[in-house]
Amino acid sequence: MKKRNVFLVALLVLTIIGGAVFAGGQQDAADEDRMMVVGYSQCDSQQAWRWAETESVQNEAKKRGIELKYNDAQAVQANQIAAVRSFIAQGVDGILLAPQVMTGFGPVLQEAKEAGIPVVLLDRLVAEDEDLYFTFIGSDFVWEGEEMGRIVAEQTGGKARIAELQGTPGADPTIDRKKGFENTIADYPEMEIILSQTGDFNRTKGKEVMEAFLKAEGENIDVVYCHNDDMAIGAIQAIKEYGKDPGKDILVYSIDGIKDAFQAMVDGDLNAVVECTPLLGPQGFDALEAAWAGEVLPKWVMSEDGTFLMEEAADLIGGRAY
Ligand code: AHR
Repeated sequence: MKKRNVFLVALLVLTIIGGAVFAGGQQDAADEDRMMVVGYSQCDSQQAWRWAETESVQNEAKKRGIELKYNDAQAVQANQIAAVRSFIAQGVDGILLAPQVMTGFGPVLQEAKEAGIPVVLLDRLVAEDEDLYFTFIGSDFVWEGEEMGRIVAEQTGGKARIAELQGTPGADPTIDRKKGFENTIADYPEMEIILSQTGDFNRTKGKEVMEAFLKAEGENIDVVYCHNDDMAIGAIQAIKEYGKDPGKDILVYSIDGIKDAFQAMVDGDLNAVVECTPLLGPQGFDALEAAWAGEVLPKWVMSEDGTFLMEEAADLIGGRAY
């Protein structure tokens, strides 16, 4: 959107309501034709899901003629806070933040707010005051966990010893996918989580943790519930190396829906996937443009996700966008 339009809309809104927190785009006439600049702080780049999200944001920025400043925090929250601070210092027009964990972002979000820079949270929520960010765009992680619990219950007849590979400690999807899954299996007295540990949403770590699980309880695990596909791919490898057949001897379930997971379902190694879309670029920029126009969005713009079983994967894999 052109700066002049943003300014006029913002002025109108400010006149009517006497002030707006995230009116954004407080530009002067001198730079009205300059490109809008957005800082994008990605928490990690060691997962296929994150590559898809980054590509979605980069493509959308290009399409809209927006300059994108990208930073990969390499799974370190301090890097991410420093990146956001640097975006603020550079005077960006908006920030897309895919936060590593839920807590600890309060001060830097406050700094962005004081600088009049709207922040849109992409794919993960933070446990901070809602006034500190414009909106959150992402999936319902509790639903994902509950849905996965329902599928596992259905496919095991409500009887299973479960090993759980958790995501990054303190991250929204880790907390809620665990909670959702436990909500469902609470109704099944013969479903029990016998092992649970973090694999950090990472393929290599997922494999390592699964190896440890197999060493400890290899003959007692019926099901592996993975908080994301990357860890499931690692777990499948570990199960094969242990000498068991993933998808049959040990049932494997995960969340995300990346192409590798669909391939694993086609190969008979992964039993089902609950989707969590990373294609958030268009909605992220829609939200920033709404902020620049002085509009108000709900604090959560929820993504629409689906559920896919092994039997359907061969027909669907060709149409997967990530
Ligand atoms: O926040 C979304 C989750 O985080 C995805 O499931 C996962 O792959 C990512 O790291």
